[in-house]
Amino acid sequence: MINTRRKFLKNISAFGLGLGVSGSLAAHEERNFELFDKLKSFNPTENDETFWNLIKQAYTTSSSIMNLNNGGVSPQPKVVQDAFERYNQLSNEAPSYYMWRILDKGRESLRQKLAQLAGCDTEELVINRNTTEALATIIFGLPLQKGDEVVLSQFDYPNMKQAWLQREAREGIKLKWVDLKMPIEDDQVAVDAYKKQITSKTKLVHITHVINWTGQIMPVKKIASLAHEMGAEVLIDGAHSFAHLNFKISDLGADYFGTSLHKWLCAPFGTGFMYIKKEKIEKIWPAFSPPEPKSNDIRKFEAQGTRSFPAEYAIGQAIDFHLMIGSERKFQRLHFLKDYWLKQALENPKIKSFTSLNKDYSGAIASIKIEGKTRNEVVNQLMNEFQIHTTNVNIENVDGVRITPHVYTTIEDLNKLILALNKIAE
Ligand SMILES: Cc1ncc(COP(=O)(O)O)c(C=O)c1O
Repeated sequence: MINTRRKFLKNISAFGLGLGVSGSLAAHEERNFELFDKLKSFNPTENDETFWNLIKQAYTTSSSIMNLNNGGVSPQPKVVQDAFERYNQLSNEAPSYYMWRILDKGRESLRQKLAQLAGCDTEELVINRNTTEALATIIFGLPLQKGDEVVLSQFDYPNMKQAWLQREAREGIKLKWVDLKMPIEDDQVAVDAYKKQITSKTKLVHITHVINWTGQIMPVKKIASLAHEMGAEVLIDGAHSFAHLNFKISDLGADYFGTSLHKWLCAPFGTGFMYIKKEKIEKIWPAFSPPEPKSNDIRKFEAQGTRSFPAEYAIGQAIDFHLMIGSERKFQRLHFLKDYWLKQALENPKIKSFTSLNKDYSGAIASIKIEGKTRNEVVNQLMNEFQIHTTNVNIENVDGVRITPHVYTTIEDLNKLILALNKIAE
């Protein structure tokens, strides 16, 4: 991994960036590696506060507002912000030269690095802006005919449901809605709910890996295997699972997968990727306009026009930062943080949760309801009286407040949250 980056840096120098720029770029990178190597030699657990306080120092988050809506979008560690700035400044020296002739050369090594982290083949991964772009590409690019069925749930993300509803309105495909009740703590309950809607006409099953409204982890592998048995393909919305849960795409049974890297990976805003299983690439129509739309080269989905090169290339630094923590350690910490505040909050009989405490069914995200308070009252009181930023959630049987810590959230932060929730519940 590090070698790939060093190679990329060497390539950049070889391409003749001004000496000052390449020199300082390389020196900065070396410093980061030294820090990461030191941190790697620790062997902390999910509740080793010395380590996690060091992680907090790597961020530049507000000291006056406590951000507990990391489920919306996450901040970037300083190394990622710095990389973005460097690439931005470099691009501004001569945009078309540095962006198209120099930086663009790094896309293939970035694709490799991302594919390695994602656990898929390099030839199956498209770098793009976000989950919405990834999933809309599949939803609108998949050849379907009138009467073909697609199975999805009301708990899927609005952008995706709207895209499917558009296909239903324009082409007469049929949407079959799965009925779910939160929280789910039994794989079979989820599998059975999907089973009820899958028929011989089902062409695709759409599953959200981690449901944004409640943090519910869905047993995607089991649902995917049921879908495949019934002859349907599987599209997984991984907006909240990538770099949060520890998994490999190749283990999920997905034909298609999309994610946003500005959530759990803490990469620059407006970065994401799409995965398409190799043998499915040819049949998906690209949303943009490559010369050969029926090609089986994954790069046909990257005819995106001018995009943010600084954001894209700083994904590399976000991956390094994530690897320094480690996927498993990160998941364990995130789950620990959620458990820490939620278990204590639930000691108050007025507080109810829509999220399971079981590690198989939840990670960092949880949603709660405070009896006698509307969701907006709680969100507003948390912000106005305690400077804690959260968000409200309202769908099906879920009506409450979503709270999402991240790796830079400390135990002191969560102690303040618990006090605030109890005060509001009084
Ligand atoms: C489950 C889910 N899917 C998709 C998205 C869309 O992500 P983006 O706005 O990065 O495209 C979100 C955003 O929160 C989400 O929670």
